[in-house]
Amino acid sequence: MIYQVYPRSFADANGDGTGDLEGVRSRLPYLAELGVDALWFTPWYRSPQADGGYDVADYRAIDPAFGTLADAERLIADAAALGIRTIVDIVPNHVSAEHPWFVEALAAEPGDPARDRFWFRDGLGESGEIAPTAWTSSFSGPTWTRTAGPDGTPGQWYLHLFASEQPDLNWNHPEVMAEHEAVLRFWYDRGAAGVRIDSASMLAKDPELPELAEHHEPGTHPHLDRDEVHDVYRRWRKIADSYPEPRVLIGEVWLPETERFVRYLRDDEMHMAFNFDFMTAPWACEAIRSSITTTFEAHRGVDAPPTWVLSNHDITRPVTRYGREDTSFDFAAKRFGVPTDLALGRRRARAAALLTAALPGVLYIYQGDELGLPEVEDLPEGARQDPMHHRSGGTDPGRDGCRVPLPWTRTGPNHGFSGTAAEPWLPQPADWGSHAVEAQQGDPASTLSLYREALRLRRTEAALRGTDFAWRESEPGVLAFRRGEDLTCVVNFGDAPVDLPDHAAVLIGSAEIQGDRLPGEAAAWLRT
Ligand code: NOJ
Repeated sequence: MIYQVYPRSFADANGDGTGDLEGVRSRLPYLAELGVDALWFTPWYRSPQADGGYDVADYRAIDPAFGTLADAERLIADAAALGIRTIVDIVPNHVSAEHPWFVEALAAEPGDPARDRFWFRDGLGESGEIAPTAWTSSFSGPTWTRTAGPDGTPGQWYLHLFASEQPDLNWNHPEVMAEHEAVLRFWYDRGAAGVRIDSASMLAKDPELPELAEHHEPGTHPHLDRDEVHDVYRRWRKIADSYPEPRVLIGEVWLPETERFVRYLRDDEMHMAFNFDFMTAPWACEAIRSSITTTFEAHRGVDAPPTWVLSNHDITRPVTRYGREDTSFDFAAKRFGVPTDLALGRRRARAAALLTAALPGVLYIYQGDELGLPEVEDLPEGARQDPMHHRSGGTDPGRDGCRVPLPWTRTGPNHGFSGTAAEPWLPQPADWGSHAVEAQQGDPASTLSLYREALRLRRTEAALRGTDFAWRESEPGVLAFRRGEDLTCVVNFGDAPVDLPDHAAVLIGSAEIQGDRLPGEAAAWLRT
């Protein structure tokens, strides 16, 4: 199981209201007890934090808010001593506008080679006042920002598929390629077991930067999933494989077509990629069944394990998402004020935890999901930081609501996040203490206890360690599958109880099981 740490919000050792690496190190026993095999850290590098660290100013330095390089080295070593590996986040599509390359490029004249590491272009129109293309940013708004000279005279435009503080790199430039390879080695040499690759399908661009057409043949879109992007990962795979203990490449690849997705998982490319098809699927029996089936079919042709992901630092927390009328996830559909039944969402999120932990492949858990944290939807406007919110003109709630600092203690300052009275960087809701680790750990009915027990069984049950999987017949609204010889997972998507299939014992249930009936919105693992 790979556990995702959002360092800013995990634990704050120096008491300044921002999580840090020493905070994570102090909580390694908690992570070991949960049964973590590896930690994936969202970017911890020096960054102005215009996009939660996905705007990197220096890949070889830790952001002072999080600690030092020595802290990172100690954390990697201490985690390894507990059998926990470390995965760092690599952000190759763009850098921070404060990265020395971009600072140099901005200071240079149009046509200067310093600008070639990015996408600088003259504007259209009589005086260059129109952006070179009408593309839309992943964070809404334009993908181009116009530069100005020291005297304020408007100049060229530069491309940013995300926020304007995140200029896109030109991957046709040999120095861009070389620098990232050096950064990979830098972290591998410091003991990182792998990298999570941000926006992995967006690096390659058509150098002509043409306007978008109605339809693009696969591999020819101007800035998404171009065929030549695979050359980058083939080179990276060679570097990963050159280590005595080969390092792992994990892709953030958002693509609707399975056929295009699995190309990133060919033998000489990445080891795995996040399963966003599953993560965005609605909590509905046939949709989930179909996503699982598609996942298996897609991975059949490649030597990469399927992955199971319920959320991450970009996604509405499952407890909230599954409590809504529309339980699917779509960035474009996020709005304020969507009614949510949190009790229902929690029942479903607990069932989803058992479902994903029972599937063969690699399981990812985002920090706080093991506590059943809901999305914090009522953050004060002034506290919101996410460019997705601000660039949408305030219509998109953004992603701050799943990034609120974790509650460790029932009471006390910051619910134990800092242990000091410092204001956390995002405010915690008044009832946050009821979700705290302290409040849940002694309670066998808590979500934390459910996760701990499910993850323990996932490690100890032979049936769950293998890859054997078969659907079992079940009534409408119920999913059932067999793992190995003797384990069955049953998920009831309906609201009424259903009969469990014959079994010798119930190993674990997401809700209390009375007799041989599985309650509605619940899952169970059976010894069969
Ligand atoms: C994907 C990351 O998960 C997200 O948080 C970030 O904003 C974008 N890539 C841009 O780096």
